[in-house]
Amino acid sequence: MPSKKAKNAARFYNEITRSLEPYIPGEQPKVTGSIIKINTNESPFPPPPKVIRAIKRFPFEALRLYPEPDIHTLRAAIAARYNTSADRIHCGNGSDEILADIFNAFASKKSLAVFTDPTYTLYVTLAKRFGIPSRSIPTESDFSIDLDKIPNRANVLFFLANPNAQTGLFIPIETVRKFLAGFKGLLILDEAYVDFAAESGLSLAKEFDNIIVTRTCSKSFSLCGLRVGYCFANPVLIDGLARVKDSYNLNILSQRAATAAMEDYEYVMRNVKRIVDERERVFSVLTKRGFTVLPGQGNFLLANPNRISAKELYEALKKRNIFVRYFSTSRLRDYVRITIGTRAQNDTLLKAIHGIVG
Ligand SMILES: Cc1ncc(COP(=O)(O)O)c(C=O)c1O
Repeated sequence: MPSKKAKNAARFYNEITRSLEPYIPGEQPKVTGSIIKINTNESPFPPPPKVIRAIKRFPFEALRLYPEPDIHTLRAAIAARYNTSADRIHCGNGSDEILADIFNAFASKKSLAVFTDPTYTLYVTLAKRFGIPSRSIPTESDFSIDLDKIPNRANVLFFLANPNAQTGLFIPIETVRKFLAGFKGLLILDEAYVDFAAESGLSLAKEFDNIIVTRTCSKSFSLCGLRVGYCFANPVLIDGLARVKDSYNLNILSQRAATAAMEDYEYVMRNVKRIVDERERVFSVLTKRGFTVLPGQGNFLLANPNRISAKELYEALKKRNIFVRYFSTSRLRDYVRITIGTRAQNDTLLKAIHGIVG
């Protein structure tokens, strides 16, 4: 607890800081030993071997120098990987930083930031932090998103995670394309989990000038700790993002390692396939056990145990050192979110669930 004197220092908070509730990331358990951590959608597989090699061979003398401010080597590697040009790519310290850059560059008091509920809660936090008016549009009772409900105005910044965070539900790209063709605002298509889905909306970034497609090295690349995100948009939007970014926003090691990651795409995609196969297996076993499981397309599943409450299941698993994610919000409190682990981890989870639920 801060002392009374320390508490007084809150007088320096500005209006926004005073009212801001920080974004709450998933629990990082302090337990050591054998735990199964399937609560924050990290990959269970090691980082790409080429990344490990690049870090081991990194010339430490180079730490003396600032990193490339325009991140040109990594942007060129991303451009080569995704068959586009570097002037259509912006990089950030995780895609979280890119989301903040988007607010910084394109939102004002006259804007309306729009998101679905549920979705990635950082969008709401960022809107508050930047003092931008916002609106959450509830998803339907089956958690699907009705794009007709999105206000269609030039001042709207619509943040759409596809697959959606928490639910994993995926909107086919043709549906997104039709929406975008008639949309007057700016669409931020957050594709953090897209490698686990059947298709991506990347080509939309070349077709339309009112879309930014964000990606991350965190999930499919097994590199949450590296903090590298990237996005695709037309060069004018990319230039807008470059204007607001911190000069040296991506450290030198992350730039080198992420460049190597782009060259290890086959390894990444092999792991993606293993996770997708496991996701389908876990989906089918849980469904047979009487759970209601959403047909998620990310590296996680949202599941309602039905026979006991989601909170009870979350707590019972935690006692067995298995950490899944529980959200107490009204739309999600009947569900636990389970990140897909290795086959062995999933077996342990399913066995534990059998023991708890019967
Ligand atoms: C939908 C979505 N977007 C973005 C992120 C942030 O990813 P990064 O690690 O690149 O900041 C997450 C993280 O869980 C997410 O769920």
